Amino acid sequence: MGKDVIVACDFSSAQAVYGFLDRFTGEKPFVKIGMELFYAEGPDIVRQIKRQGHRIFLDLKLHDIPNTVKKAMGVLSALDVDICNLHAAGTAPMMEAALEGLTRPDGTRPLLIAVTQLTSTDQQAMERDLLIREPLDRVVMHYAQTARRAGLDGVVCSPLEAGKVHEICGADFLTVTPGVRFAEGDRGDQKRVMTPAQARAAGSDYIVVGRPITAAEDPVAAYRRCVAEFVD
Ligand code: C5P
Repeated sequence: MGKDVIVACDFSSAQAVYGFLDRFTGEKPFVKIGMELFYAEGPDIVRQIKRQGHRIFLDLKLHDIPNTVKKAMGVLSALDVDICNLHAAGTAPMMEAALEGLTRPDGTRPLLIAVTQLTSTDQQAMERDLLIREPLDRVVMHYAQTARRAGLDGVVCSPLEAGKVHEICGADFLTVTPGVRFAEGDRGDQKRVMTPAQARAAGSDYIVVGRPITAAEDPVAAYRRCVAEFVD
């Protein structure tokens, strides 16, 4: 897979997401479906958006015992999503079980990527609540290496970490990076941001962009601008 822009469709209903996607008449953006939309509408929303020709990153961040994750991944794989994810904190046996669950009888499977440390977790919270006393960036790289060894395809990380992840885990290990804003755009609650062009230069393979597209006056134009800066 080459570089692409994934649109975070953080809507609370099927009606809202269809209203948004219907505006795209010339292209079929790669869509991220997160917990809110999936829990509100169930697996049918995935089937329907897939049927419309969109590729789908199903962002449900699984984290449970290996057997449970393996079985749940089997269900997600049958939905024919293109990318799904889990928490690397579930450790290597959970990640290996997830891959087994995802693999279809014909040997194909969706890409599987790991969340390392959530970007909402800072050094202080990690030390206080998780008793992890290593520097945060070292923890992120260690989780990425563990995911790589378990056979996963990549990680979700900040575009600021993409270059280092590639250095440590290899150029073919995918970096999927949220935290993207246009140069003059509103940052919202994202603290460490990059523009699509900067994310490209930093080595991101996929950028995940939500509000700069979904809340834009002209979402199609905003999407095209992301593609022009990041892909073309
Ligand atoms: O609207 P915005 O561009 O900030 O959306 C970013 C998307 O990426 C949201 O769906 C958010 O949940 C997700 N995400 C993130 N940071 C992470 C992991 C996921 O912003 N570390």
